[in-house]
Amino acid sequence: MAFSNRFLALALFSLLACAANGQLSANFYSTTCPNLQTIVRSAMAQAVAKEPRMAASILRLFFHDCFVNGCDGSILLDDTPTFIGEKSAGPNANSARGFDVIDAIKSQVEAACKATVSCADILTLATRDGVNLLGGPTWTVRLGRRDARTASQSAANSNLPGPASSLSTLISMFGDKGLSASDMTALSGAHTIGQAQCQFFRGRVNGGDTNINATFAALRRQSCPPTGGNSNLAPIDVQSPIKFDNAYYQDLVDRRGLFHSDQELFNGGSQDSLVRLYSRNGAKFAADFAKAMVKLGNLSPLTGTNGEVRLNCRKVNS
Ligand code: HEM
Ligand SMILES: *[C@@H]1O[C@H](CO)[C@@H](O)[C@H](O)[C@H]1NC(C)=O
Repeated sequence: MAFSNRFLALALFSLLACAANGQLSANFYSTTCPNLQTIVRSAMAQAVAKEPRMAASILRLFFHDCFVNGCDGSILLDDTPTFIGEKSAGPNANSARGFDVIDAIKSQVEAACKATVSCADILTLATRDGVNLLGGPTWTVRLGRRDARTASQSAANSNLPGPASSLSTLISMFGDKGLSASDMTALSGAHTIGQAQCQFFRGRVNGGDTNINATFAALRRQSCPPTGGNSNLAPIDVQSPIKFDNAYYQDLVDRRGLFHSDQELFNGGSQDSLVRLYSRNGAKFAADFAKAMVKLGNLSPLTGTNGEVRLNCRKVNS
């Protein structure tokens, strides 16, 4: 009796766990596109060898896709005369990049397995591989996401945090997606790679913030003066911008966060102790980052017969 009850409980639990994750599975394409993961990995290896920053750009695309109505490839849709999508939203315009790399991977995947693999799944795998290629962790990606036939510029404008966000805003925006404050702090470690434009940190390095390392502020002012140079680039992690490590958290402890929002994670608030822990323990950061990325990747996917498998990531199927 006890056994069958336990069995029933387990069966019910598995069913619920499955429903909650919308039927994604690690072997979703194992018969329909057995070489998928090899194709994505080698295309990313090539792209990252050519330009290491590409791993960062793809990672940011994934975040901006998943935070806006789930991981459904909606950020990849081009605007048309009759459709205004997410690419031209505030957080993405003149900033989101890496679309050509996703297109190139998609063509290779289409050549191997026609009309089978979604753009949303390709972006998820490419992101995982980019992080790992720059020295970060790897993790198992569950697949089966389908692509949206719509996108929402207004949701992109309202759901994504900005570089001036406070800690409480960051915690509540991630909370709205079912991610905890600790998930938010781990995911912010993505800023250990990549570059940012002066317009997003000008205020902080030009006297707008008091909790900044003066030497660091002076360094960044060299290419980000009080006026002009809006799109001048600086590495977000001052120590190792093409290595996926825990240096971002060491930067925060030294008051060398680039964005106001970065430094909010270490400014006398609830995340200070976790930032300190990650600054000392890279393995703990890597493990927590991987777990949080799985959660981010499982945000409201379209599955089953919802959405579609787009043939061209830039436009919905006609
Ligand atoms: C916590 C709130 C966050 C804020 C306010 C924020 C804001 C920004 C801003 C303003 C940029 C610079 C964009 C530009 O200059 O064009 C940036 C870059 C970047 N963000 Fe975030 N971000 C946040 C969280 C995240 C998360 C969760 C991830 C991924 C998991 C991420 C990944 C990246 C990466 C990799 C870059 C560099 C992109 C490149 O070099 O092309 N960010 N972020
Ligand atoms: C400022 O940054 C330097 C490294 O450039 C570091 O040695 C120093 O401890 C930092 N100062 C503070 C107050 O965190």
